[in-house]
Amino acid sequence: MTGKIIGLGSYLPEKIVTNDDLSKIMDTSDEWITERTGIKSRHIADPVKDRPSIMVVKAAKQAVEAAGIAPQDIDLIVTASTTPDLIFPTMSTTIQEAIGASENCGCFDVNSACPGFVAAYNTVESFIETGNVKLALVAGVECNSNFVDWTDRGTCILFGDGAGCAVLKAEEGKRNEFIMRSSGKRGTCLHCESARQPYRKDEEGFDKLTGFNMNGREVFKFAITEVPKIITDLSVKYGFDLGEIDYFILHQANQRIIEATAKKLKQPLEKFPMNIMNTGNCSSASIPILLKEMNDKGMLRRGQKIVMASFGAGLVWNANYIEY
Ligand code: ACO
Repeated sequence: MTGKIIGLGSYLPEKIVTNDDLSKIMDTSDEWITERTGIKSRHIADPVKDRPSIMVVKAAKQAVEAAGIAPQDIDLIVTASTTPDLIFPTMSTTIQEAIGASENCGCFDVNSACPGFVAAYNTVESFIETGNVKLALVAGVECNSNFVDWTDRGTCILFGDGAGCAVLKAEEGKRNEFIMRSSGKRGTCLHCESARQPYRKDEEGFDKLTGFNMNGREVFKFAITEVPKIITDLSVKYGFDLGEIDYFILHQANQRIIEATAKKLKQPLEKFPMNIMNTGNCSSASIPILLKEMNDKGMLRRGQKIVMASFGAGLVWNANYIEY
């Protein structure tokens, strides 16, 4: 038994912020950002219209419609998010209510930072393989613009907002395979506080709130070391050849990380689809947004062999192998 993607949906806020726009409000340039990251523009959420719970419902409705299923038949909804507008109830129960799924549908959220979508996908896959779930919706949504420190030019230029969803259906076939890894001891290079911390005060005596806090170089080194390794380990563990893979769908964090991974794996860059130039890093929404875009472009066909790989805060990194 395996989970097959039968419907995809995504939502990107209407507002587009280019590198040139950013260079008007901070000391940066299109040249610097493009050269270091590949990013040219990103979608930024409207504080009212594009709350995460609204973005993810739009993406979920699209995915359900594309799948052609009755929402009442969905057994499980799992949403990955690090930046939800509500701590509780979960984004998943918000989706359940909005799409009209039944009360027999299990709902929970996953917080695994940028690798969240792959973690959620692997979780759903496990429920399908044990026969507990026949139809599931897996989602990723982020409103990074709410949490980045807009005075930290080394970090804020990287991120964008958006949501993506996939409907997975249990079918006969080779099961999906995955590896998940993490290192709490290396986690300090990327962190974000969830609320004002009363034990720390700023200059004016107010509780301090720090946004995304990142040592970019450390994260970069971690990604270009661990991502090629986990993909290679996945291929060895499950006995497939990297040459057989049609697409390596990587978390869209930085074009240079993706290029370095392709080079280390000795695979052509064409097998590594990218949309980071127009989306920035949408954390746990990046992979489903890219999948939807690939589907719209007619790039996805049944039977294609796909590896998804993701990495981020934790530190956490993971990869899976699916047959589309
Ligand atoms: N514009 C212009 N100059 C800048 C900017 C900017 N936006 N940001 C930093 N600089 C300057 C720095 O001040 C520094 O100047 P200095 O040498 O005079 O001190 C210089 O550029 C180099 O800065 P570095 O930080 O060393 O630049 P680096 O080459 O490492 O690139 C970057 C920075 C793009 C952030 C890179 O390290 C990176 O992409 N890292 C990975 C980050 C990432 O993917 N994070 C997300 C992980 S997923 C998650 O879970 C959140």
